[in-house]
Amino acid sequence: MAQLRIAPYKDLLSHFRFLLTLRSQEGHYRSLILFRLSTSSEVESCADNEDENRDTETTNAAYSQLYIMESACPHLGADMSHADIEECETGVVAVCPWHRYDFDLQTGKSDTGLSACTFAVEVRTEDTVDTVYMETPKEGTGWRIVEMRPVSEAFADPPPPVASDLSADLSSTVSQENEPVVPEENAPTTLMEWAVLILNTPHPRLKVERTKHAVHLFRTGQLKSIGNKSPSAPTPPDVPSRDDAYLRNTVDPSKVKNRRNRASMLHALANIEQWAIDLAWDIMARFGPMNKELPPAFFADFTKMALDESKHFSLLTSRLSALSPSTPYGSMPVHAGLWESATVTSQSLISRLAIIHLVHEARGLDVNPATIEKFRKAGDKETVGVMEIIHADEVTHVTAGHRWFTWAVAREAEKGNIEGDVDPVKRFREEVRKGWTGDIKGPFNVEAREMAGLTPQFYEGLRGELGYPAEEGVTSATGGGTDLDGLEKGVAAVRLEYEK
Ligand code: FES
Repeated sequence: MAQLRIAPYKDLLSHFRFLLTLRSQEGHYRSLILFRLSTSSEVESCADNEDENRDTETTNAAYSQLYIMESACPHLGADMSHADIEECETGVVAVCPWHRYDFDLQTGKSDTGLSACTFAVEVRTEDTVDTVYMETPKEGTGWRIVEMRPVSEAFADPPPPVASDLSADLSSTVSQENEPVVPEENAPTTLMEWAVLILNTPHPRLKVERTKHAVHLFRTGQLKSIGNKSPSAPTPPDVPSRDDAYLRNTVDPSKVKNRRNRASMLHALANIEQWAIDLAWDIMARFGPMNKELPPAFFADFTKMALDESKHFSLLTSRLSALSPSTPYGSMPVHAGLWESATVTSQSLISRLAIIHLVHEARGLDVNPATIEKFRKAGDKETVGVMEIIHADEVTHVTAGHRWFTWAVAREAEKGNIEGDVDPVKRFREEVRKGWTGDIKGPFNVEAREMAGLTPQFYEGLRGELGYPAEEGVTSATGGGTDLDGLEKGVAAVRLEYEK
């Protein structure tokens, strides 16, 4: 049976659960949870495999407590990453947070008759390193791990390098909103309702807090319905609202002389992240009700994206506050360029995934390394740390874009609604031609793109033919957010006020 290398065992000691995303050579995806149930004394015993005195029995006991199971509950698809673990007579079970069905971690079986996919785990010693392997899924070949991240409720994980208080930062430029995170009246009861509430939340700090809260409720099973199949699912706004304080610019743009300065860049990047939070919620709220067959894993991926973008926004505004207290978030010109692509793609999930996630976000992968280098050269290690977190997360976002783009194209073909090509590469190129203006510009970060599923066949020699001229600076400045040249032009050519 084919085996897939996961990681040295020592690398798993930081957390008890990890989300693994696997992709096969044929483009199939699997989302899995790795559970490590070993106790602290067992962990100590495993810490040094060159220690002659280490207790083999205890070590083996620890290694036998690694389990891998599919991340979506086979009942109605709840995210099992926050399942309770319980011991019972027959073994150890994971209890689904939604309806409390339990699944044996070894066999996947449940008393209900349902069965979850589980995968055998093995620890092998390779060059003195104890390394964890798993059996690969039966369908597909050439499986690889495209994402491995700890399951953690910590919001900024790792923590922000500068512990400045975001609320203090923002309160200096905007009137403090007293709205509670959970509205006192008509509190949302489904994920769709939370999504629309967050899209209609203009204050960025409240948007971040509501995102954290809604994702926590969803992941821990306190929100028992996604709500996209309901005939009364709420409608998202055409354009998410923004706090009035952000419609003014307290800094005279003509005085932003050094447009390459770090504060301007951080401000522009934070603005893009704020839009990115909205984009993650919008794709769920807009296309969930239009595509009722979307599986829960889609919502798990995009809630994770919303949470990541909130984290990025907080990290960037923290850095901005530390670096330039006189120009807090909201004090510089901002633009809404990213939403133009959201509007152009508002009728089709396939178009949205192609343009926002596989063009704009993939562009971020290309330009992030240069941005990181600029901050490094300026000696700004803290921002380098922040940008590295953002870059790593963005690879996973493009991966999610690729995953659901290929899923949606295949689904359309299965249903016989073939309006475009059924080959994902050809279809992507078609979508870009009609939903994008101008060349898909390099140079490309081929390695990061490939990790996310985008081979050069997707994007090389591609030009969008959408019938309006690209706004100078905007297209590149919004591509995940870190094209320095685009950013400079974007700041220079920016609309002085956000246009409602
Ligand atoms: S028991 Fe898991 S979704 Fe119902």
